[in-house]
Amino acid sequence: MAAPDLRSDLDLTLDELQQLLQLAADVKRAPGRFSTALQGQALSLLFEKPSLRTRLTFELAIQQLGGYAVTSIGMIGDREPLKDMARNLDRWTQGIVARVFAQSTIEGLAEWSRVPVINALSDLYHPCQALADVQTIQERFGRFEGLKLAYVGDGNNVAHSLMLTAGRLGMHVAVATPTGYEPNAAIVAQARAHGAAITVTNAAAEAAKGAAAVYTDVWASMGQEAEAEERKRIFAPYQVNSALMAHAAPDAIFLHCLPAKRDQEVTDSVMESSQSAIFDQAENRLHAQKALLLMLLK
Ligand code: CP
Ligand code: NVA
Repeated sequence: MAAPDLRSDLDLTLDELQQLLQLAADVKRAPGRFSTALQGQALSLLFEKPSLRTRLTFELAIQQLGGYAVTSIGMIGDREPLKDMARNLDRWTQGIVARVFAQSTIEGLAEWSRVPVINALSDLYHPCQALADVQTIQERFGRFEGLKLAYVGDGNNVAHSLMLTAGRLGMHVAVATPTGYEPNAAIVAQARAHGAAITVTNAAAEAAKGAAAVYTDVWASMGQEAEAEERKRIFAPYQVNSALMAHAAPDAIFLHCLPAKRDQEVTDSVMESSQSAIFDQAENRLHAQKALLLMLLK
């Protein structure tokens, strides 16, 4: 039988997603109960791009579950074919966590290795982030049904994973982007095919209207640095500021995966406001990923 992977959000069924959220809450409440769950297991962490949160929370999660992590930084497949690399890693370690440029690298690792492969961000998805995001929303509101999540900014990997994960859990996901920066149409269709209510618009205020959570991410993702200046001009009307937050529900929270460019995609004052849940969200990366590891490596 093939190892379970998290190549994209859709590798977890809705049932599994709900179980994972329960487990993440249990792990957060009583971490000591799980301190030997991965005893004797090693994981390979591969990074083609920088990371603070993802790398440190995976390393800590694995250690706190009793396992150990080895980290390698550099392009995957440059020195040797992906299929060789995958079949080295699965001889030494019981799982592979990879942050990559191309989603096809994740797919290749999953195809060739006999151990679970976890997508720690690609050009298309950031499923581990979305798990922490929905954990944070659940903690604040206790439900998903009937709640709107407004994502304002670039229709990128983070937006895609939110549509697939928060959308499947029952949130109405409204994505507002400049023309030409909409989310990938095939992923929007995929989310809708799984029953998610997705709105795609170019109007930030319309997306934010009545939202329980307003979410943004950088306007230029890793690898798009050359476009940063042009994007600053194009995305300016999509800044999350107090005027935009005023369209959301009175008890709305502000979310950002981080790292943020303060006073670009979001003002410093929204980041520091009482509505901001960004550090709870970052903390939950640790708990949600522990739950993910427990489910995939059990
Ligand atoms: N949110 C997130 O993935 O952060 P890092 O890029 O620091 O891992
Ligand atoms: N969209 C961003 C997310 C970083 C966590 C990027 O891909 O760089």
